[in-house]
Amino acid sequence: MDIVFRDVEHRYQVNTPFEKRALYDIHVDIRSGSYVAVIGHTGSGKSTFLQHLNGLLQPTKGTVHLGDYTITAGKKEKQLKPLRKKVGIVFQFPEHQLFEETVEKDICFGPMNFGMKEEDAKARVREWLTLVGLSEDVRHKSPFALSGGQMRRVAIAGVLAMEPEVLVLDEPTAGLDPRGRKEMMEMFASLQQQKRMTIVLVTHSMEEAARYADEIIIMHQGTIVRRGTPEQIFRHVDDLLHLGLDVPETILFQRAIEQKFGVQFDAPCLTMEDIVQSLQMLFARVKRT
Ligand SMILES: Nc1ncnc2c1ncn2[C@@H]1O[C@H](COP(=O)(O)OP(=O)(O)OP(=O)(O)O)[C@@H](O)[C@H]1O
Ligand SMILES: [Mg+2]
Repeated sequence: MDIVFRDVEHRYQVNTPFEKRALYDIHVDIRSGSYVAVIGHTGSGKSTFLQHLNGLLQPTKGTVHLGDYTITAGKKEKQLKPLRKKVGIVFQFPEHQLFEETVEKDICFGPMNFGMKEEDAKARVREWLTLVGLSEDVRHKSPFALSGGQMRRVAIAGVLAMEPEVLVLDEPTAGLDPRGRKEMMEMFASLQQQKRMTIVLVTHSMEEAARYADEIIIMHQGTIVRRGTPEQIFRHVDDLLHLGLDVPETILFQRAIEQKFGVQFDAPCLTMEDIVQSLQMLFARVKRT
């Protein structure tokens, strides 16, 4: 499902003293199957943008095309339920939305709400648990008896159970320890590969954006100010620092080496592996001379 935003604006609380323009001039194309990271300061409009991806919010100006759906400002869209199945949103701290007595019931809630028979849903719980790296031991437990990381996985399993084509993630690793973060990010990457899902991820971690995304969108004060591959985005370190954004540690390390030794690496080092490779090439060059 391709996603296209044309001249989208969103205002909250229109015609009240609290009216707030949270998004404007949004033009963006997200190709089916791509992995897009959205970064930007707090209040820059990231969550507002995400909620337009399944019609939870509608534009106050412009048009959002989501596959066959067109959502236009001022037009009431009635049939949004099927769209909500195609685009699954995992909000920040999704574990706060768990509510059933057992993990099984919680995961089955979504698919049953969309018409799957109870026994069919139950028959697939194991598969959904496996997708998020949980064992069947948790199946009959209360979701509230699990660790924070496990609860979050259950909540994500509930979204995946609806078999969305697009998975939208609002800071899914917030508050997890480094190992938990890495496991969760690897899980999304493998889902994208296995299921050919489109992933749109909001993150505050430049490392996550650099390592996993095909494309990065930078938002600033309600609009998109930069867009490109991680290489394109992280080539312009000063630009990012100017926007008040962080830069991956690996890029800062690369800069320090380049300055110290008066050399220039061929491309931005987005991961530790990139650093190791660039250093190997540098040493090989030094040896030859
Ligand atoms: N329900 C609302 N009513 C009025 N203003 C809102 C509402 N929700 C968000 N805003 C405002 O819209 C702007 C964008 O908010 P949004 O939540 O999209 O930012 P964000 O980039 O997701 O921030 P964060 O990184 O803190 O999650 C902010 O100025 C915010 O105060
Ligand atoms: Mg937000």
